[in-house]
Amino acid sequence: MKIFIILLAVIGFYSCSVNKEIQTDFSELTSELSEQMKVLVREIPDDKVPRSYPDENGGYWMVGNNDWTCGFPAGSFWFLYEFTNDEFWKNTALENTVKLEGVQYRTNTHDLGFMVFCSYGNAYRITGNEQYKEVIIEASETLIERFNPITGVIRSWDFGTWQYPVIVDNMMNLEMLFWASEETGDEKFRKVALSHADVTLENHYRDDWSSVHVVDYDTLTGEPVIKQTHQGLSDESAWARGQAWGFYGYTMCYRETGDERYLEAAENIGNFLLENLPEDNVFFWDFNDPNIPDAPRDASAAAITASALYDLSTLSDQGDTWLKAANQIMESLTSDKYRATGGSNGGFIVKHSVGNLPSSSEVDVAINYADYYYLEALKRQQELLK
Ligand code: GLY
Repeated sequence: MKIFIILLAVIGFYSCSVNKEIQTDFSELTSELSEQMKVLVREIPDDKVPRSYPDENGGYWMVGNNDWTCGFPAGSFWFLYEFTNDEFWKNTALENTVKLEGVQYRTNTHDLGFMVFCSYGNAYRITGNEQYKEVIIEASETLIERFNPITGVIRSWDFGTWQYPVIVDNMMNLEMLFWASEETGDEKFRKVALSHADVTLENHYRDDWSSVHVVDYDTLTGEPVIKQTHQGLSDESAWARGQAWGFYGYTMCYRETGDERYLEAAENIGNFLLENLPEDNVFFWDFNDPNIPDAPRDASAAAITASALYDLSTLSDQGDTWLKAANQIMESLTSDKYRATGGSNGGFIVKHSVGNLPSSSEVDVAINYADYYYLEALKRQQELLK
């Protein structure tokens, strides 16, 4: 009995000091992240937000509330506020949220989930301000206008020669719709989300659980007519960020619904992603690029995947596998190889992401969504440690 009590005391002392060490690391890391991002904040104009760095002239790509990435800077600043409790970050987050005002009425984009839920969503979660809640509900009303009952999916793009293009990225806009149904009690948002998730699962995924980027639907029959890529290497290849968006999307769908089909999808996509994880745990931009290992990385895909892996680790019987992979990716993203310090990288955190390689746009640069999902992953990691 005596030995047992001593053993418990030793284990207690050991886990206490391990936890302390993790907490010290976390507070050192978040203070570095805060210093780093303050450099970026100094560059932000009143009416725009930073999307990526450097552009072809070595400067920032700043965007307004019509750009799909406009909600990420505010979201990142809200996370920094949560991590540091520093009023500077609260004020910066607020400024960069409310400057998006009007975004909720944009009918020409499927990206309202990204634009509104990452900015106003975090703002509402943290402050409880009812005005932000109204913005998110308005955005959800606007987004479901893009749903067509014949195709059963939300239309992605309005440009191009497709009839009704849907990209796998669009899975990410569904979380806001689940939230809107919860908040309003109106099932219409959830019904759209469920239909979109089911039809995408049917048409975007290949036998090996990789995903095609774009599926074009016939608006008369609702059938898929074209399957191709837009930002990946080829129509048959696995574009890294598309795989990450789908993985995050189906993990979230399982969390929101408890429907086992989504869990099965998330686990299968997760296995496909982990099979394609390089030695340093940060994906190449497209898994089929013949130039691997000299092909560009896409650290944004790694950050999105890490965040979803933490989520899945709490939902699946194989939690340990997903948790271990998430920690490995985060360790790599936090290392000097992928994380900028001292105000380099334009004040963005994560280095080496790719926006659209076939269009030679944003190749091997810092992009705001890589930072957003890195910070979200860090938050999820910390919550699990607690
Ligand atoms: N949704 C666009 C992208 O991932 O680049």
